[in-house]
Amino acid sequence: MSDYKIKTLVFVGLSLSFLIYSGWIYFHEEPESHPASRAAIMGKQVWQEKNCGSCHQLYGLGGHLGPDLTNVIDSKPEGYIRAILTAGTPVMPNFHLTEKEKDNLIEFFKYTNTTGTSSPKSFTLHTDGTISK
Ligand code: HEC
Repeated sequence: MSDYKIKTLVFVGLSLSFLIYSGWIYFHEEPESHPASRAAIMGKQVWQEKNCGSCHQLYGLGGHLGPDLTNVIDSKPEGYIRAILTAGTPVMPNFHLTEKEKDNLIEFFKYTNTTGTSSPKSFTLHTDGTISK
């Protein structure tokens, strides 16, 4: 086979693979394993609007002035979290959140708690780069 034909075959082969893979990614739907409640989605919105992530991490990612909050709902009583969200601290500003916003943030923390772990000390590294405990 001529050099030109081989190059054309390789080009067509790679183009086809690219198109098939792109199509698969575009149309393939992963089943949602941890569906978020409406309140949790609203809580995430508050998290983003107030930029809580500039000081706090979720799943180990974010700012480092405050603690990671992925599993805060497990380690601290809800009343304590609500009090911090109401008054702030000497370092954390008071965001003057409404009761609804606080409820939604707490729902969001319940959601993050079921979907990940902050900074696990020991974990199994998978070949696709993800980890599990
Ligand atoms: C300017 C940085 C900053 C921002 C922005 C911030 N926080 Fe904080 N937050 C802190 C710090 C620092 C602490 C730890 C208490 C302290 O040292 O004052 C804290 C503590 C907390 C705690 C208690 C955690 C624990 O384990 O005791 C919660 C819950 C919390 N923040 C939620 C939020 C939410 C929700 C937002 C966004 C609405 C937010 N924070 C925005 C700095 C911040």
